[in-house]
Amino acid sequence: MAGQPIVAGLDLGNGYVKANINGLVRVFPSIAVKQFNTAHHTPIAEDEVGTFMKDIINQMDVSFSSPLVRSTERRLFGERALKSGLNLEEFDVFARIGKSEVDLSGVLALATIAADRLQDYYEKNEKLPASKLKVKADMATALPIGEYKRHAKAYLQKYVNDGAPHIVTFHNFERPVHVEIMFEHAYVANEGESAQYGLMLAKDAFLEMIRREAVKRFPNGELDGITGKDLVSAKNTLGIDIGEGTIDFAVFSNGRFNADASSTMIQGYGSVLESTLSKLQEEGYPYKSRKELSEFLHNEPSPFTKRKWTHVKEVNQSEENRFGDVVSGETSKVFSRVGGFIEVIFVFGGGATPLEWSLFEKLQSRVAEFGDDNLLPIVYLDSDFSRFLNVQGLYQVAQRLRQTASGSKKQTVKAK
Ligand SMILES: Nc1ncnc2c1ncn2[C@@H]1O[C@H](COP(=O)(O)OP(=O)(O)OP(=O)(O)O)[C@@H](O)[C@H]1O
Ligand SMILES: [Mg+2]
Repeated sequence: MAGQPIVAGLDLGNGYVKANINGLVRVFPSIAVKQFNTAHHTPIAEDEVGTFMKDIINQMDVSFSSPLVRSTERRLFGERALKSGLNLEEFDVFARIGKSEVDLSGVLALATIAADRLQDYYEKNEKLPASKLKVKADMATALPIGEYKRHAKAYLQKYVNDGAPHIVTFHNFERPVHVEIMFEHAYVANEGESAQYGLMLAKDAFLEMIRREAVKRFPNGELDGITGKDLVSAKNTLGIDIGEGTIDFAVFSNGRFNADASSTMIQGYGSVLESTLSKLQEEGYPYKSRKELSEFLHNEPSPFTKRKWTHVKEVNQSEENRFGDVVSGETSKVFSRVGGFIEVIFVFGGGATPLEWSLFEKLQSRVAEFGDDNLLPIVYLDSDFSRFLNVQGLYQVAQRLRQTASGSKKQTVKAK
């Protein structure tokens, strides 16, 4: 029996999945590996199931039956994928095939929901489901702005699947466990646009953090007296979402997303990592993927890896400097289109903080070229929380889907 519908905001990033399901936020690398040889598979013993459930994303072994996923192999995720030594399935930040066309998006979306539900079922019942676990979901996800224009409709249809379920099968146990997911309401937004919703709906402590972040970069008091609320409720904004594979320039005019003026640059912080990776490989370092490198850079080094870490960081910094020029150049182009009416610029996403030292001043001087009698604050947000703006916005959108749909149904009934 399917219980209450769940609410899911899914930001399927080129680098990391950020998911919010019924208020629980998860983040894990956007990777999977396909297993071509599953003959020697040992099922988990009954008394180990509890431990498995606590770390389900990093342990699960699942296959899919869904229009979102063409290949039917069993896949591993998270740490188990990273440490399997098998070829990683990653979003290719160079190939121009978008997120809406590759299996990985569907794989990550469905696996995240299935894992969440199985974990929840086990927590409540302390056993595996005896039959199919049925799940109804209201879900919002996003595509890069450039991809949205051409592909959002078809991508949404795949989730909706004419009302038929998507099936995720867990192979970790004595017998397969099936999770059946039906998207009763689904929505596809633009990346960067959803982050802006995350900002607009920000509350107390978060608003204060936004204000602090903004003010600290204007030491001459230009922003004194301005509140967090003033900043996030500006009607004409440019949001720069620095992701791993794309940078989305999301423009809002008169409080609404302006699709004509918004655009995507098809490079992100991942291209810094990729260039660092090739340099390191030339030097003989054994890194295989940018994911491995990113995890290495973002975790504290041990006394044994400190020297290596420092060297890797140095190589990476010279790439960051080069990339800072590219991003500020691209921002100038966007700015020459929209600079006349923009009131606040927000910079966020996982790439924001690593690039700050190279990018912030460059952005500021580009913006200054457009006249200095305008106060145009650049609100540069820390990656630790601003990576989650898209998913928080998507979650808010997903929460409203049922209500909006029933509202519009009532209206059509009335109109008849
Ligand atoms: N605390 C952190 N943990 C992990 N990665 C981080 C952190 N801070 C910055 N990063 C960097 O941020 C990048 C990922 O950013 P983000 O999660 O915004 O991208 P994404 O949404 O996955 O990609 P895209 O928007 O292109 O689809 C990675 O390249 C990573 O190196
Ligand atoms: Mg992103």
